[in-house]
Amino acid sequence: MVKYKVLIDENKIKTRVAELGQVLTKDYQGKNPIVICVLKGGIIFFTDLIRRINTPLEIDFVRFSSYRNGAENGELRSLLNVTTDIKNRDVLIVEDIVDSGKTLSFFVSVLEKQKPSSIKVCALLDKKDARKVPFTADYVGFEIANSFVIGYGLDYNELYRELPFIAVITDID
Ligand code: IMP
Ligand code: MG
Repeated sequence: MVKYKVLIDENKIKTRVAELGQVLTKDYQGKNPIVICVLKGGIIFFTDLIRRINTPLEIDFVRFSSYRNGAENGELRSLLNVTTDIKNRDVLIVEDIVDSGKTLSFFVSVLEKQKPSSIKVCALLDKKDARKVPFTADYVGFEIANSFVIGYGLDYNELYRELPFIAVITDID
């Protein structure tokens, strides 16, 4: 069991997701973007966000193995791949959090080889002080301090993804 403290409550998330949806609606008008969810953590944000984007879009999913328990050689193993042909398409990646920056910089470089018209990243959370490789997200929900957070898709040992808010772990038994 862990103890946690709410950092961003449900209402704040809802409001910010709606704001992001408005901006994305404008930016992707008439573009039929492919919106890619990075599993597992991005799932809750993704499903809420796409329902706030008011222009036709396609969805796809990708999943990477965690490098957290293994060697940090920069290469991430993909457990699930994008199957949509993204050539000459506008791609929007939706992720829960940018931490070290490794996942997204790797994924963007993989997608770039397939020559999409554009690739942008929308992350709910951004831990700017935690970067190990340079990476800047195009759309960010909230910038947060460099502490471990759970909820709204984010896990601690695969638990707590279902919490409807974002919380900071304060104590671990
Ligand atoms: P990266 O370090 O930027 O490559 O982030 C890799 C992944 O680590 C993210 O997609 C999250 O799933 C996970 N992660 C990073 N920080 C946290 C956190 O504070 N709580 C839960 N998961 C996290
Ligand atoms: Mg993740």
